Amino acid sequence: MKGIVLAGGKATRLRPLTKITSKQLLPVYNKPMIYYPLETLIKAGIKDILIIIAPDYSGHFLNLLGSGREFGAKFSYEIQEEPRGLADAFIIGENFIGSDNVTLILGDNIFDMDFSQAIGGFKKGGLVFAKKVADPERYGVVEFDKSRNVVSIEEKPSKPKSNYAVPGLYVYDNRVIDIAKKLKPSPRGEIEITDVNNAYLKMGELRVEVIDGIWEDAGTFESLLRASNLMAEKEGKKMGSKL
Ligand code: DAU
Repeated sequence: MKGIVLAGGKATRLRPLTKITSKQLLPVYNKPMIYYPLETLIKAGIKDILIIIAPDYSGHFLNLLGSGREFGAKFSYEIQEEPRGLADAFIIGENFIGSDNVTLILGDNIFDMDFSQAIGGFKKGGLVFAKKVADPERYGVVEFDKSRNVVSIEEKPSKPKSNYAVPGLYVYDNRVIDIAKKLKPSPRGEIEITDVNNAYLKMGELRVEVIDGIWEDAGTFESLLRASNLMAEKEGKKMGSKL
């Protein structure tokens, strides 16, 4: 299993913070944001990781993370010139993935969960997760039927069919490269990860696991602050403080 952290994009929603650095280098409590998705992959047993970054500040990522040796992992880097969409990760990562399976995690997604069983047991098809949220319209949203089978996944629907959002951690077999290459850009001009999931769903090979741990997409001021507070609280508990 290979791992990809997608940490490009322009992060205009976080201006002026992102006028002088990349979103994924901003602090979340006591660490740069990108440490969290990297640690999520490493904790899940993935040690060979491609980090995809935008051209701006790319040197900063290299200075910060280096070869990966300090993390007990091996890091490679690729530049994404333009934010063409999340599924572009599999096209940029084609050589890196080779003939292996791949887990993609978004560089602004903060989890406090252990995915080692789910990823360790993965064999074939696609595996994504679903978490109950109050604001599903911000995310990819899963529609279930009465027997809890997945009927569809919609990207940022104005009228969500459930409260279950798809977090930014996706596990696929090697066919994802070909699926990504065949995608057409959506109305917002991106090749969407939701279309990858719907392609696996159509083949009858998408598994959706409902999860209940801590997850934040730290892409807005509010969620960035929430993520910092959650991590401070967690560290405080470990140290026995009453933060
Ligand atoms: O956080 C989970 C959500 O992530 C999912 O529920 C949605 O289905 C999925 O589309 C995505 O939605 P976002 O609105 O959060 O995507 P965003 O455009 O913010 O991109 C997520 C991260 O990926 C962000 O840190 C920037 C990076 N990115 C994004 C694009 C479009 C890239 O590195 N390259 C890109 O081309």
